[in-house]
Amino acid sequence: MDTKESYAVVTGASQGLGKAFAEKLAEKGINLILVSLPNQNLTELSQALEEKYHIKVHCYEVDLSVNENVLKLTEWLNSSFNIHILINNAGLGGTKKFTEASPEYINTILQVNVTATSLITHQLLPNLLKQPKAYILNVSSMAAFSPIGFKTVYPASKSFIHSFSRGLHEELKDTNVFVSVVNPGAMKTNADVCKRIEKQGVWGRLTLLNPDKVAARCIRQLFKKDSVIMVNPISWLVMKILPIWIKLPLMTQAIKREIKA
Ligand SMILES: NC(=O)c1ccc[n+]([C@@H]2O[C@H](COP(=O)([O-])OP(=O)(O)OC[C@H]3O[C@@H](n4cnc5c(N)ncnc54)[C@H](OP(=O)(O)O)[C@@H]3O)[C@@H](O)[C@H]2O)c1
Repeated sequence: MDTKESYAVVTGASQGLGKAFAEKLAEKGINLILVSLPNQNLTELSQALEEKYHIKVHCYEVDLSVNENVLKLTEWLNSSFNIHILINNAGLGGTKKFTEASPEYINTILQVNVTATSLITHQLLPNLLKQPKAYILNVSSMAAFSPIGFKTVYPASKSFIHSFSRGLHEELKDTNVFVSVVNPGAMKTNADVCKRIEKQGVWGRLTLLNPDKVAARCIRQLFKKDSVIMVNPISWLVMKILPIWIKLPLMTQAIKREIKA
C-alpha cells in the first residue's frame, strides 16, 4: 500500500456531476482518486483540489468502455490504496433513432454505464470490505423509471444501475459496505445537455437541477445511509404515479423534439 490513508474513487471526475462530487468530498478533507477519459485536464483539477483542501489527490486517465482498461485500473487501485468510498458516476447516453445508432454508440453506452460500473464495483469490493466503514454510490437517472423512445439504450442501462444497486445493498446490508443509488433528473452539466433540455420544453426547464446541489445532497445522504437518494421528489412522484401507457408516449414525444429541433 502506498499509504495507510484511505481514499475515495470518483469516475467521470473531470467535469459535470463527477467534478462536483470530487469538490464536495475534498471539502470534507477526503483524499481522492479521480478517474476520467484522457486529455480532460484532470491533472490540473487534482492539483487545484490538493492545494485548496490540503488533501492527497491521484488521477488516472482511462477509456472505461474497454474491459481490459477497467481491470488495469482496478488492479492499480487495489495494489496501491485503501479505498473506503466508490462513486460510479461515469455514464453517457444520447438521443438518436435506434435505426441510425452505430454499433459503437450502443456498445459504448452499455460498456461504460453497465459493464464498467459492475466490474469496478466487483473488483474493488474486497478492498472496501477491509475498511472499517465503506460506501458505494452509483449514479443512475430518472430515466431508469420509464422506457423512452429515441433514447432506448440509455434508460435501459440506468434501470440496470438502479436494480443492481438495490440488489447489492440488500446483499451487503450486514457488512461494513453501504450501497446507495441516486436517480437525478436533467442537470446543467455541459453545453450539450443544456441545449438538449432547452428543446424539451417547459417541463425540461422546470425540473433542471444544479449538479453542485445534487452532489452536496448525495454526499450528505450517503453518509446518513440513505439507500435511494432522492434529488427531485416531484419528478419521482410523477414517474411513480403515471402508468406506463401515459408516461412512455409522453416522454418519447418530449425526447423526439430534441431530434426534430
Ligand atoms: N446531465 C444530466 O442531465 C444527467 C441526468 C441524469 C443522470 N446523469 C448521470 O450523471 C452522470 C454524470 O453525468 P454528467 O452529465 O455530469 O456527465 P457528462 O457531461 O454527460 O459526461 C459523461 C460522463 O461520463 C464519463 N465518460 C463518458 N465516456 C467515458 C468513457 N468511455 N470512459 C470513461 N469515462 C467516460 C465522463 O467523464 P470524464 O469527462 O471525466 O472523462 C463524464 O463524467 C452520468 O452517469 C449520467 O448518466 C446525468
